[in-house]
Amino acid sequence: MRAFGTLPESDRALLAQEVRRRQRDGVRERLGKSLRELDEDIPEAEIRQAVELCTTPGEPVAVPAEWPQGPSAQTRGREVYSLLGCAKCHGDDGTGMPDEPLFDEQGEPARARDLVHEPFKGGRQPESVYRRIAAGMPGTPHPAAVDTPQAQLADLVAYVRGLAKEPTLTLTNHQRREWATALAYAAGLRSLRSKAP
Ligand code: HEC
Repeated sequence: MRAFGTLPESDRALLAQEVRRRQRDGVRERLGKSLRELDEDIPEAEIRQAVELCTTPGEPVAVPAEWPQGPSAQTRGREVYSLLGCAKCHGDDGTGMPDEPLFDEQGEPARARDLVHEPFKGGRQPESVYRRIAAGMPGTPHPAAVDTPQAQLADLVAYVRGLAKEPTLTLTNHQRREWATALAYAAGLRSLRSKAP
């Protein structure tokens, strides 16, 4: 998806409203379908309330006022990286774990970001990296770091940003999925082979 920064702000605001409207319609449709499957007769007002609850953004994630930098912050951040199990998906060196197939919310193969060579969807500004670590990326396997103190997450951001080199691996979502599918397939084959007599 390219950037639409050249559109006037009022058009972008209208587009955002339209996306939100479609999201609400989608949630309403899915909710209606599950209720019909359960044969539940729920009053329209209650459904509207549930849709509102699912689609109204919560409080914005509070970001630190200052960003620790330098080798000591990165060393502390490296410990937080181990402590929170980031290496389980992103690997010890940040480039990923090809032997660990991951799947998104829809059951499609997913690929953890190569934190060293790939660009980040949200950009590399500390605020953005922080928000994605603190709030997770819904729909993907990347989890939210709940209950981790802000100072520790700020150190983690210093570590993650320190790993990142000039991006050399730029993949579309489709290519990421194809890559993940191939890896999941290869891991499946290896596991079958190891069980073979
Ligand atoms: C269960 C696997 C998993 C774990 C654990 C995990 N991640 Fe991720 N992470 C992913 C996946 C998958 C993506 C790519 C999501 C996408 O864009 O579809 C991702 C994306 C990211 C991104 C890119 C954000 C962007 O803007 O594109 C960063 C940074 C990141 N992870 C850091 C971390 C850190 C730090 C931790 C530990 C607190 C962590 N991740 C834990 C799977 C994981």
